[in-house]
Amino acid sequence: MYNEKVMEVFKNPQNMGEVENYNAIGTVGNETCGDIMQITMRIENGIIEDAKFKTFGCAAAVASSSTATGMIIGKTVEEALKVTNKQVITELEGLPPQKIHCSVLAEDAIRAAIDDYNKRMNG
Ligand code: FES
Repeated sequence: MYNEKVMEVFKNPQNMGEVENYNAIGTVGNETCGDIMQITMRIENGIIEDAKFKTFGCAAAVASSSTATGMIIGKTVEEALKVTNKQVITELEGLPPQKIHCSVLAEDAIRAAIDDYNKRMNG
């Protein structure tokens, strides 16, 4: 079902786990499949210094979250908010149609973590 790139990332995911002393955390789930994704970040001066994920989900969700966290490390918060699931899919060289929502989860988790960060900053 998956292409080689997705399988490669799934077997060797980057950025797995939880960022130490994170100041942003976002957890999202998909009701239909029941999969859950959590992204933690350490943001300093508006730059995402580190990002990691924990995903309780399918191979596409793991590959998407690994790819998405890799795409946002070193970026500004504004840049990270522009990362879309379509870009994640492009990085992964495609996902099967029924697995598109897995990449949406990664986009949503990034947004949820940044929302959390903004709330913390604004007291
Ligand atoms: Fe739901 Fe992949 S099947 S996240």
